[in-house]
Amino acid sequence: MSVVILAIESSCDDTSAAVLKDGVVLSNIMAGQDVHRNFGGVIPELASRAHQQNILPVVSEAIRIADVKLRDINSIAFTRGPGLLGSLLVGTSFAKGVAISLKVPLVDVNHLHGHLLSHFISEPGVNNEHPCFPYLALLVSGGHTQIVRVDDFMSYEIIGSTIDDAVGEAFDKCAKLLDLGYPGGPIIDKLAKNGNPLKFKFAKPVIKGLDYSFSGVKTSLLYFLRDSLKEDPNFIKNNLHDLCASFQKTLTDILLDKLIKASKETGIKTITLGGGVSANSYLRETVAEEGRGREWKLFFPEIKYTTDNAAMIAVVGYYKYLSGMSIGLDSTPVSRVESF
Ligand code: KG4
Ligand code: ZN
Repeated sequence: MSVVILAIESSCDDTSAAVLKDGVVLSNIMAGQDVHRNFGGVIPELASRAHQQNILPVVSEAIRIADVKLRDINSIAFTRGPGLLGSLLVGTSFAKGVAISLKVPLVDVNHLHGHLLSHFISEPGVNNEHPCFPYLALLVSGGHTQIVRVDDFMSYEIIGSTIDDAVGEAFDKCAKLLDLGYPGGPIIDKLAKNGNPLKFKFAKPVIKGLDYSFSGVKTSLLYFLRDSLKEDPNFIKNNLHDLCASFQKTLTDILLDKLIKASKETGIKTITLGGGVSANSYLRETVAEEGRGREWKLFFPEIKYTTDNAAMIAVVGYYKYLSGMSIGLDSTPVSRVESF
């Protein structure tokens, strides 16, 4: 008998729904939220309101595109956390409502677990290779920067984590300082292509073990711009591409240093990237180049699966469902959680 999972993701500012049948993604619908663009960051209250508007059409469209009958759905998977509480509440409540009406079990999914298993998203007719366990996952997004050792579909351990800002935040704050708009990562990525990554140097943190820190490098850029603008009011305009390329290189170097260390310490050479920042072209090129010399087996998600999406939530939901794991209708979303 087939297993059909309907998954819902609403942890931040993307509303997404996906249908997975026997491990294959039949649909993955996303609705972004332009409403935050003018604010330079996600406004939680606006995000939850937009989720409320988007969730019904997004879920309906996912079911329509997948061409499955409601009675064929075996389970509803939903992102329980971490994320913005108001946003998570919308997805959680909707998932509960559907589970009640279809009389099927609810499966709660840790958003980060979703990113970790995003390499197992299979599309119909596409026979892509999946990573073998154990592998190291560099999880880089607007909310998280972690190195995770993944031992199995259900078992993983965070071995390094940021002690302050996430790397995506550093990209976004840099873009804000350069007055480039939000979200800044993709804009910096694009502008950096025509810049010299060696033109400017920014302070790199010295942090023990496999942990990261990104608040210092952001402050280093802030002071550097302040001093440079005193001498040349057009400094940013005249050096925009080089500033983006140099800042991006600094962030990439910081990420890579600890990834190399993690691979050496664990002896694991299968490495995956995930999360919004893993869309960054310079990061991908640099990790690929480094990996060639170190005989790493690398897995980069398709760009559409780097950012938040319900397909990855469906994959985790599928394996949890197969293991008989489900959660009661009294479950509540959780804004801060590393694993559950
Ligand atoms: O995973 P994600 O969609 O949401 C979170 O869970 O945070 O990640 C969003 C982050 C933002 O900080 C955005 O600027 C960054 O990913 N991002 C990028 C790129 N595309 C998205 N950063 C650098 N280069 C990119 N191409
Ligand atoms: Zn995410």
